Amino acid sequence: MEYFKKILVFAKPYKAYALLNVIANVFYALFGTLAMISLFPMLSVLFKQTAPLEQAPIWEGVSEIKTYVEAYLNYFVTQQSAQGEGRALIFMVGLIIGMFFLKNLFGYLAMYFITFLRNGVLKDLRNALYDKSISLPLSYYSEKRKGDSLARITSDVLEIQHSFLSILELVVREPLTILFTITAMLVLSPKLTAFVFIFLPLAGFLISLLGKSLKRQSDAVQKEQGQFLSILEESLGGLKIIKGFNAESVFGQKFKDSTQRFFDFSNKLLNRQNLASPSSEFLGIAVIGILLWYGGQMVLVEQSLKPELFITYMSLAYQILTPAKAMSKASYGVKKGNAAAERVLEILETKNNIPEAKNAIDIQDFSQSINFKNVSFKYQDQDVIKNLSLHIEKGKTVALVGQSGSGKSTLANLISRFYEVSEGAVEIDQTDIREIKQRSLRQLMGLVSQDPILFNDSIYNNIALGDPMAPETAIVEAAKIANAHEFILQQPQGYQTHIGDGGNKLSGGQKQRLAIARAILKNPPIMILDEATSALDTESEKLVQDALEKLMKNRTSVIIAHRLSTIQHADLIVVLKDGQIVEQGSHQELLKLKGNYHNLVHLQDLNS
Ligand SMILES: Nc1ncnc2c1ncn2[C@@H]1O[C@H](COP(=O)(O)OP(=O)(O)OP(=O)(O)O)[C@@H](O)[C@H]1O
Ligand SMILES: [Mg+2]
Repeated sequence: MEYFKKILVFAKPYKAYALLNVIANVFYALFGTLAMISLFPMLSVLFKQTAPLEQAPIWEGVSEIKTYVEAYLNYFVTQQSAQGEGRALIFMVGLIIGMFFLKNLFGYLAMYFITFLRNGVLKDLRNALYDKSISLPLSYYSEKRKGDSLARITSDVLEIQHSFLSILELVVREPLTILFTITAMLVLSPKLTAFVFIFLPLAGFLISLLGKSLKRQSDAVQKEQGQFLSILEESLGGLKIIKGFNAESVFGQKFKDSTQRFFDFSNKLLNRQNLASPSSEFLGIAVIGILLWYGGQMVLVEQSLKPELFITYMSLAYQILTPAKAMSKASYGVKKGNAAAERVLEILETKNNIPEAKNAIDIQDFSQSINFKNVSFKYQDQDVIKNLSLHIEKGKTVALVGQSGSGKSTLANLISRFYEVSEGAVEIDQTDIREIKQRSLRQLMGLVSQDPILFNDSIYNNIALGDPMAPETAIVEAAKIANAHEFILQQPQGYQTHIGDGGNKLSGGQKQRLAIARAILKNPPIMILDEATSALDTESEKLVQDALEKLMKNRTSVIIAHRLSTIQHADLIVVLKDGQIVEQGSHQELLKLKGNYHNLVHLQDLNS
């Protein structure tokens, strides 16, 4: 229950609905009991058990309620029977129908109000989970499977939503029904009711034993759900490769193993849950059996109980079974909800390890330099950047080169604070970037990543992401500068063409030019380019190259170059090796050194 309690915060905005639900449930339970009791006058009339009574009885307090009601009933039937017996019968039938109608009306109202609470919690929880998922740093997802997060946002939240119904049933509706029913039973026959008090808690205990391991089992089911959603997500994302490598059966097997485990786990869970209702009904009937035996004796042998009273009493006793069943089922539902709540809270309570400083400042502009001061960085245990210092002057173009895996992309990621340095500091205009609001830091930077990231939306909207307020003319202008305008016009719906999932309706070079147009539109003072022109043919490379050059003009740029020919004119070339700077200088200076850079250039010359 502890996790579930924390989730209750999400029900707070809807507490008015919870209150209305409770009120409706009070009436539901009340009319449910009255409906059963209304059988009594009906039976009395049928069995002709009413003694004629011409005078209305006098109210003598609650303790005499049973006598009063009986006497009033006799008086009423005597009066009605004066106009024929059938009339009294119709009236009694009307009473029963009326009571059941009211019971069900309030039952519906209770469900009606709780619906808003349940769906409201569902909505708010999903929103909170989405916001949290987006706010968590990139590093969180290097370790977690995306499908697992998907499962938590979809099915775990749904499980919680279900259990919100259960919890209100568990604490309000059914206990009230039982309370009212038992009160009525006490009034009818305190002696018989003593049995109920002995056996009901015993039955309750037995049922709770059955639900013991339910949370653990439910946990396993939900985890497995995350597992196969992950496989699905990866399979769809990598469909081309799966088909190309004829790996369908490998992934198919992985998926089927997971669904098989899901099958096994959920069978166990559901069958455990299926036990709730029959076992509580059976235990209840055992109690009823005892009541029947003892009450029957009271009617037949002792003659201390009227038969019609006994029948009414027994229908009340039988009525307790339904809420008892519902309660044991609901308690299982809450246990499952608790398991789901734990998984949801795990995301909601994850601490962001790239926090915003308390007095984080806003910076409007970039005026002097970017400075790496003795920066070290490691992903988990592996050191990737080692005690690196670098000065990037405003307006200059700095190129990072080096072998694959030398830490170029990592270094670029540290500038935008996608990852946090382990030691040292990155400064912008002499301010540690940890002291700057992340929003305003990233406002200064444009990003073109190694693999262009585009969204399943129109070309227009993909570019507009750079500046959502930009007028159409600015978007076309940006596309022109990025050498994208021509090919966009050739698309079936021009700028409004949808580019498919991840932009897969476009070519590699086209995707890159869109990503560049997006950065151009943003027009930030600092540009970070992780270029991947190596994937392109000469023709589109020239177009992309040209676009990049325009992009870097009059800006401070950090460019990661794979084709060294593209960065010959950079103001500063920094050669990285195993996370350290081994050489830096201009193209000419570095060539003269005949060191690492010379080797790299030489190697590429041989290849081309
Ligand atoms: N998310 C991550 N978690 C753990 N290790 C990582 C992660 N990303 C990168 N690495 C490791 O950090 C090192 C540097 O990676 P980085 O991406 O910075 O290289 P790079 O110089 O950009 O290479 P390339 O030219 O191939 O793009 C690599 O050894 C890589 O294994
Ligand atoms: Mg890289």
